[in-house]
Amino acid sequence: MARSDGNCSLSTVHEWESPDYEPLLPVSEKSNPLTRDIDRVSAGSIVRMLQACDAQIFQEEKGNTYKGLLSDQVVKTMMEVTRRVEIILKDPKDSLVVLSGCGTSGRLAFLVASGFNRELKELNQRSLYAYIIAGGDRALFSSQEAPEDDPKLGALSLKKVCEGKKRVLFIGISCGLSAPFVAGQLDFCLQNHEVYTPVLVGFNPTHQARDEPIPGCTFTFRSVVQRMQELAKSQTAFLINPAVGPEAISGSSRMKGGSATKLLLEIVLSAAHAAVFSHAPITSTGILQHMRAYENALDVTYAQSEAISALLEAAGQSLRCGRCVYYLGWGSLALLGLIDASECKPTFGADYKDVRGFISGGYRELNNNEGPLTSLGPEFCIAHEDFLHLVLPYLSDKDTVLLIYTHSDDVSEVVKLASRVREKTSNLHAVYHQADGDTAATVQQDDINRLCLSTLKITWLSPAPGSLLHMQWELSTKLLLNAVSTGAHVLKGKIYQNHMIDVQVTNSKLYYRASRLLQKLSGCPQHRCEEALLKAIYRVDELSTGITSSDTATHTRTARSRTKVVPLALVSLLTGCSLMEAESHLEQQSIVREAVAVIIDKA
Ligand code: F6P
Repeated sequence: MARSDGNCSLSTVHEWESPDYEPLLPVSEKSNPLTRDIDRVSAGSIVRMLQACDAQIFQEEKGNTYKGLLSDQVVKTMMEVTRRVEIILKDPKDSLVVLSGCGTSGRLAFLVASGFNRELKELNQRSLYAYIIAGGDRALFSSQEAPEDDPKLGALSLKKVCEGKKRVLFIGISCGLSAPFVAGQLDFCLQNHEVYTPVLVGFNPTHQARDEPIPGCTFTFRSVVQRMQELAKSQTAFLINPAVGPEAISGSSRMKGGSATKLLLEIVLSAAHAAVFSHAPITSTGILQHMRAYENALDVTYAQSEAISALLEAAGQSLRCGRCVYYLGWGSLALLGLIDASECKPTFGADYKDVRGFISGGYRELNNNEGPLTSLGPEFCIAHEDFLHLVLPYLSDKDTVLLIYTHSDDVSEVVKLASRVREKTSNLHAVYHQADGDTAATVQQDDINRLCLSTLKITWLSPAPGSLLHMQWELSTKLLLNAVSTGAHVLKGKIYQNHMIDVQVTNSKLYYRASRLLQKLSGCPQHRCEEALLKAIYRVDELSTGITSSDTATHTRTARSRTKVVPLALVSLLTGCSLMEAESHLEQQSIVREAVAVIIDKA
C-alpha cells in the first residue's frame, strides 16, 4: 500500500472540542480527527500526527466545554493535593500515600511511587509511597485486563496495603474515569473517610465518567465521582481531571493519558518534596513552570522526528515479517520500555514476544512488592542476562534492537551489551539522553556509535535540576517508545483509520469498545454487532441461550484465549459469511487492516 504524507489543519485540531463531535463518547474514547488517516500515511507523517496529538495535552484553549491541564481549577486542585502530601511528609507516622490504577495507570503508579521513595531514601527518610496495580505485580509487565473489572478486589487490596495506618492519601488513577477496580477503592475511601482522603486522576469531565452498572455494586464510577464532587467543596476529596484531547489511537489511554498521569503526579509530589525539604513555597507559578518544563520535553523529543521515524520504520519492518522488537534499557528508562512493551498485547492483539523490554539488573533494580517473578515463565524474564540466554542465540538482522540509556548510566556496560548484540544483528539502534556539556562518556559513546546502525542523541540544553531532568528524560523516552510501538503496529496493519481493530476483548471496557467499533465500521445496529461479537468469541455460527444469558465477565473470560475476535466479527457482519469463511478470508490476507479495507470497500 502506498502511504501518503498527511497534514492537519487548525480546524481538525479543535474539532473534537465541539459538543456535537461524537457526542455519546467521553473524550478518552473519542477518535482524534488529527489521526483519521494514520493507517495510510508514511512513517514520518505518523510521527508528526503523534506530535500534534501530544501537543494537545498542553493546549490552553478548550472552548467552554472542557477544562485543560493549565486551567486555574486544575492548578488549584493540584496545589491543594500538594499541601496534603506536604502535611504527611512533615509528620509521616502511621501515614501513607497510595497510588493505584489498572494497566498502564498502575504501572505508572509503580514508576512514580518507586522514584519518590528513592528520593526519600537519599534524604534519609523512610518510604511513604505505596503502589497498587490491578492484578498484582505480574500486571507490571504483562497484560492482565480482567482484574480491572473487580471493585471488591480494588477495595481489598487498598485495605491490605494500608493496614495499621491512621492517615492515607489515596490517589486513584483511571484515565477514562472508568475502571471498576478504582471505583471500588474510591468508594472504600468515602466509607472510611476518617482515615482515607481520596484523589481521582483522570482525563474526562465528571459528567462523562462511566455510568454502566457494576455487577454486585450499588455504585457506578459516575456515582462515586458525584459523591466526591460534593466532598471536594470541603476539600475532603479531590478531582484532577483535565481534558487532554482524544488519543491518537482511539481509547489507547497508555499514550496521552499515561503521559499526563506521569507529569501530574510528578509535579504534585515534587512540589511537596520541595516544600518540605527545600522550604520552597507551593505556588501556582511553580506548578505552571513545571508543566512548561514537560512541554519542553515534548518539543525536545519531537525535534528528533526524522530519527524517530527511522526507528519506527525499522520496528515496523521487523513486525511485518513476523520478527521482534527488543528494548534493552538501563534504570527507569528501561522500566518505560517494559511498560511500553506490555501494552502491545491488549492494544494490538500482539504476542508478548513481538515487543519485549529488558532491564539491566532485572528485579534487583525494580524493587517491586512481590520481588522476582521469573518463576512465572519466560514472559517475566526481564533482565539483560535473560535476553542474552533466551533471545540472543536466535536473533537475526530482521529483529530490531534498541538500546535506551542516559549518560549518567554505566555507559561501558552499554558498550559491552552492544558488542554482544552486534555479533548477531546489525539492526541495532541506540537512543540516549545527555545533559549539555556532559562529556564524561564520549569515548564509549563513539564505540556505541560504531556498533549501531543509528544513534539518536537527545541533548538537554540548560538542563533542569537533577530529579526534574531525569523525569523529563523519562517522559521523552515514553513518548518515543509509544511512537515506535504504535507506529510499528500501524505499519503492520493493526489499525483501521485510527481504531485498534485487533483489540483484545478481555474486560468490560474493551468489550463495549469493540461493540461500538463494530457499529461504526459496519453500520449495523448494536444488537447485531453484539451477536457477531459473541459468535466470534465463542466461535459458533448460532448463539445458544447458554451464551446469550451469560454475563459480560463470562464473555471476556472466554475471549482471553481467542485471537482476531473483532476482525472476525466485522468480516462476518459485512459479508454475511460464516465464521469459518471469515477465518479463511483473514488467513489469506494476514494484514487485518487490508482485509477489512477490501471488504468495507466492497460492502
Ligand atoms: O483495559 C486495558 C486498558 O485500556 C489499558 O490499556 C489501560 O492502561 C488501562 O485499561 C487503564 O485504563 P484507565 O486508566 O482508563 O482506567
